[in-house]
Amino acid sequence: MPNQATLVILGATGDLTQRLLMPALYRLHRLGLTPGLKIIGYAVEDWSRERFEQHIHEALKNFAADYAPRDWTAFAQQLDYLGGQLTPPDLGRLKDRLAPAALFYLALPPPLFGPAAQALGEAGFAKEPRGGWRRLVVEKPFGTDLASAQQLREQMHEHWDEAQILRIDHFLGKEATQNLMVFRFANRFLEPVWNARHIAQVQITYAETLGVEKRAAYYDHIGALRDMLQNHLMQLFSLVAIEPPATWDDADVLRNHKVEVLRSVVPIDPHQLDRYAVRGQYRAGRCGRKKLAGYCNEPGVAPDSRTETFAALRLEIDNWRWQGVPFYLRSGKRLASDTSEIAVQFHAVPGALPGGMRVDNNWMIFRMKPDESMHLLANAKQPGLTLNSHQVTLSAPYFKEDEQEFSAYEQLLLDALSGDRSYFLRFDEVEWSWRVLEPVLKDWQTGMPDYYAAGSEGPTTQSRLLDAGQSWRPIA
Ligand code: BG6
Repeated sequence: MPNQATLVILGATGDLTQRLLMPALYRLHRLGLTPGLKIIGYAVEDWSRERFEQHIHEALKNFAADYAPRDWTAFAQQLDYLGGQLTPPDLGRLKDRLAPAALFYLALPPPLFGPAAQALGEAGFAKEPRGGWRRLVVEKPFGTDLASAQQLREQMHEHWDEAQILRIDHFLGKEATQNLMVFRFANRFLEPVWNARHIAQVQITYAETLGVEKRAAYYDHIGALRDMLQNHLMQLFSLVAIEPPATWDDADVLRNHKVEVLRSVVPIDPHQLDRYAVRGQYRAGRCGRKKLAGYCNEPGVAPDSRTETFAALRLEIDNWRWQGVPFYLRSGKRLASDTSEIAVQFHAVPGALPGGMRVDNNWMIFRMKPDESMHLLANAKQPGLTLNSHQVTLSAPYFKEDEQEFSAYEQLLLDALSGDRSYFLRFDEVEWSWRVLEPVLKDWQTGMPDYYAAGSEGPTTQSRLLDAGQSWRPIA
């Protein structure tokens, strides 16, 4: 990052700022990675700088795992605050406080993304000063369908160039996601088998035990398909399927390859939607002895809500590498466990084996939760006097004991400041992802989700997406 830079957080009194952004900035500061960074909080509250400092201090005590009182004073010196509306005259008051390099982070409710980008533009902040830059960071959801995403793009592009806009999908900042790219391309043994000739299916699961918590106002209008699959899971899917980029030094090469994958997805046939998509909603259930309320009884959720809290998709890619391989994506709330993984199943081995033994298919599993690790399910001889086989798991934890873990926000804030766009979404990625989902969104405007008990593995109907002989990996 440059010697002097300013980060303006719009929506600085909100949840995202206190739970995720400030703890990440604090950690980067402690590690000495953001020297010369000034952080200006901007929000409607008419607060003094001291009041804001106090608020952030409390937030760090609650949410920063590594909070240490002695580092607070130095960090606090980086902070500043300005109260105002999202109007050009109010925002204009920021002008004198900015360094030539300035980043505007929209930590705002999604309906305000477009108006905030426009107001910042009208206040003159999209124009890059000599020897400096201006960037705009915005976080998913990027629209709620193709048309609204395109409209948002128009609003943002009124003043900002695409190259100035950094769209965050925090999954791209996760260690496990980045490892997927390294593991895929840095291992000679993988590439020759990473195709339809050897791979039978891919299952991408992001299962959460959490329910809707206090987010009903957002979630009940959004649902699992828009909240998780359109962005996070589609990104993981693209990374599993991409062709090797010619270079990693040019963010656009990687992003072009991801778009190629999305453009190669076989369009979902609206007349066969049951074969491609399943939605579910949790009803009352149990986790051990604890009783769990149904989604419609959660605070803030409409009692007759049709919103899906579970979504599963079957996608197919029509290209030389992947033709015929089903990719299954699913995510849901209030499931049996926090199990998240990308699981790649290989075809059965051909030919005869000693003693006519039968073996299970190999799986390569990239686990994200409950721990970050890699597992290869292989077949080996079972010890004994006869030639029998059993499945063994070759496992590697992602972190060694003494290795530090960085949060996705630490990674992405640093990338945003240094101008590395590799892990930010370009608009065409967002757009093609919405295109893939359009038939499903249209169909789900009516009808009801299937129900599943809170604490279970999701609706039983999810199995209808699978090919004969396949089954979902357990969420346990
Ligand atoms: C967010 C979704 O983008 O990702 C949440 O809005 C979800 O509903 C969260 O819980 C999952 O990400 P993580 O990193 O908290 O596991």
